[in-house]
Amino acid sequence: MSEEKLMRLDMGKLDSHVHSERPILCLGIESSCDETSAAIVDSDRNILSHIIYSQIPEHQKFGGVVPELAARAHILAIDEVIKQTLAAAGKTIEDIDVVAATAGPGLIGGVLVGWMAATGIAQSANKPLVAVNHLEGHALVPRLCATLADGANKNVSVDFPYVLMLASGGHCQILLVHGVGKYELIGQTLDDSAGEAYDKVAKMLGLGYPGGPIVDKRAQNGKPDAFAFPRPLCDKPNCDFSFSGIKTAARTFLDKADGALSDEYIDDFCASFQAAVVDCIVNRLTNAMRDARVKAVAPKTLVVAGGVAKNSAIRSAMELLAQKYNMTFAAPPMNLCTDNGAMIAWAGLENWRVGKIVTEPVAPRPRWPLTELKNE
Ligand code: KG4
Ligand code: ZN
Repeated sequence: MSEEKLMRLDMGKLDSHVHSERPILCLGIESSCDETSAAIVDSDRNILSHIIYSQIPEHQKFGGVVPELAARAHILAIDEVIKQTLAAAGKTIEDIDVVAATAGPGLIGGVLVGWMAATGIAQSANKPLVAVNHLEGHALVPRLCATLADGANKNVSVDFPYVLMLASGGHCQILLVHGVGKYELIGQTLDDSAGEAYDKVAKMLGLGYPGGPIVDKRAQNGKPDAFAFPRPLCDKPNCDFSFSGIKTAARTFLDKADGALSDEYIDDFCASFQAAVVDCIVNRLTNAMRDARVKAVAPKTLVVAGGVAKNSAIRSAMELLAQKYNMTFAAPPMNLCTDNGAMIAWAGLENWRVGKIVTEPVAPRPRWPLTELKNE
C-alpha cells in the first residue's frame, strides 16, 4: 500500500470526514440470520460486487431458522463468500478502505462468525473496522439505492430526516430517522413482528418457509374481504402494532375449516390476512404523520425497509399514503430488502464518514435496539 494511502486511512481513523480523490471502498459482511453475504460498496453509491448465500433450503424442512444449523452453515460459507466478493469486484483486501460487519442484533452464533471474520481481516490488513447494527443496515440502505413502489428505479434520493417503516422477520417499528445513529422510536409491535405473522400464517396453511413471499403471491388471487380478520390497535391514538390477535383469528378460522383446504380458500385467506396487515400499517403510519415529533421536523420522505418491504401491497399502500401527505415514497430494490451484505457495507461507509469506527474490542450482541445507538 502506498504511503499516501496509508496516511489517508490513518487520518480516516482520526477524522473520517477526510476528503479523498477517489471513492472509498467498504467490504460489508452480513451473517445475523440465514444469509451469509458480503459486498463491496463505494462512497459514490456503487455496488461493485455482492454475494448472497442463502441458507433457506437448509432450514425449510424445519419450518424456520434453526440457530445451531445456521451458525454452522455460516462457518462453512463465510470464507468462500468473502473470497468470491473480492474476486467479483476484481479487488484484493489491500484495495479495501473500510471493513464492516453486522455486530448484532441477531442469532448470536451467526453474528459471531461474520464479526470474527471481519475483525481478522481488518486487523491483519490494518483497515478501519465498523461494527454495524443490522437494523441500521436496513434503515440506511434506501440511501444507497431506492426505488418507487413498483420497483422502478427513478434515483429516488433519501435525505434525513425521514419516516421509516422497518418491517422484518424480527422487528416491526416506525422510526424517525434523524441521521446516522440517530433514531427516534415512534411506534413498535407489542408482540410479533410483521414478518413473523406472515411466516406463522403460512405455516398454519402448510405453505412452507419463509411465508412472506408465498402469502404475498397467493394473496394476489384472493378476495381481501373473504375473512374478517381484526385490525388490532387501529382504534388507538398511538403508533404501536399488535399481530397476535390476527394470528389467533387465523387459527380460529382454520379450526372451523372442514377437510383439505382448496386453492380458492387459501388464496382468499392470504388476501384477507394481508389486507388486515396493510390496514394496520397504514393506520399506524397515519398516526405517525400526525405525531408532534414527526411534524416538528417535516420529513419529506416515507420509507419502507426490511424483508417485509418486498411486499407489493404494503409498498403500494405506503406510496398512496406518502402522496396524501405530500411526501416522496422510497423503498430499497427487492434484492436489498431482505438481509444482504450491501446494506452492511453501506451502513459501514455511513458510520465511517461520521467517525464511528471500532477503537476497542466489541462484543457482538443478540439484542441491540436502534435507539441505543445515539448514546454510544
Ligand atoms: O429482513 P429479513 O430478511 O430478516 C430479518 O432481519 O428478520 O426479513 C425476513 C422476513 C421474513 O419473515 C419473510 O417472510 C418476510 O421478511 N418477507 C415478506 C416478503 N418477503 C419476505 N413478507 C411479506 N411479503 C413479502 N413479499
Ligand atoms: Zn434483517
